[in-house]
Amino acid sequence: MLIITHLSKRHPRAARPVFSALDLAVAAGEVVALIGESGVGKSTLLNCIAGLEPADAGSILIGPAAADIVHLDEAARAALRASAIGFVFQAFHVLPTLTVAQNVAVPLLLSRVPLHDHAPRIESLLARVGLAGFGARWPATLSGGELQRVAIARALVHRPALILADEPTGNLDPRTADEVLALLLERVREQNASALIVTHSQHVAQRCDRILTLTPEGLE
Ligand SMILES: Nc1ncnc2c1ncn2[C@@H]1O[C@H](COP(=O)(O)OP(=O)(O)O)[C@@H](O)[C@H]1O
Ligand SMILES: [Mg+2]
Repeated sequence: MLIITHLSKRHPRAARPVFSALDLAVAAGEVVALIGESGVGKSTLLNCIAGLEPADAGSILIGPAAADIVHLDEAARAALRASAIGFVFQAFHVLPTLTVAQNVAVPLLLSRVPLHDHAPRIESLLARVGLAGFGARWPATLSGGELQRVAIARALVHRPALILADEPTGNLDPRTADEVLALLLERVREQNASALIVTHSQHVAQRCDRILTLTPEGLE
């Protein structure tokens, strides 16, 4: 579902690369925890996989069709991202001027899911993340834990092959963080998606299928 080969990335004007010749494969249905010290390059790696930042060399094959997001043009990259990837950000990025249901609908509007399927899908997924009845609410009236549940529902609603989560609980208290991440893991497994989850929680990492540590020398 995800095959990274010899990936290299250096930020403009940076003295040394964030990573070079990095290899990683995540199987269909596998959930991988990515840990590592602050500043080591975890976010950069996730952004490269999502095609949000350019890589310098190497390839990143995504989804059943194994499309190489490094070498696609911008339009094809956006289409691949919309169909095959779900992204959960640390700071939620729930849009304040849309209701909860409208936020979750965004990936559906970018995909080819028929319109009459949108409402039932959104409703059932909101229920699965513990937000039944929240569809008409405004984000400003939700707690941090609830907002991150909205973001998780939004990342899964188009049933992407690959879920990327960048410290999805970094803005939550430890107990809420564990609850929200457990829920993300359950839903990812339920949809048989592959996932790469950056986390600082040992507890959460232990619940994943595999733990990888990013160091200045590479992945181990
Ligand atoms: N847009 C950027 N331009 C230049 N340097 C950056 C940029 N983004 C991140 N970096 C640097 O790249 C390194 C890795 O950052 P990051 O991927 O955010 O690490 P992590 O997510 O593991 O904390 C850090 O040294 C950071 O300062
Ligand atoms: Mg980061």
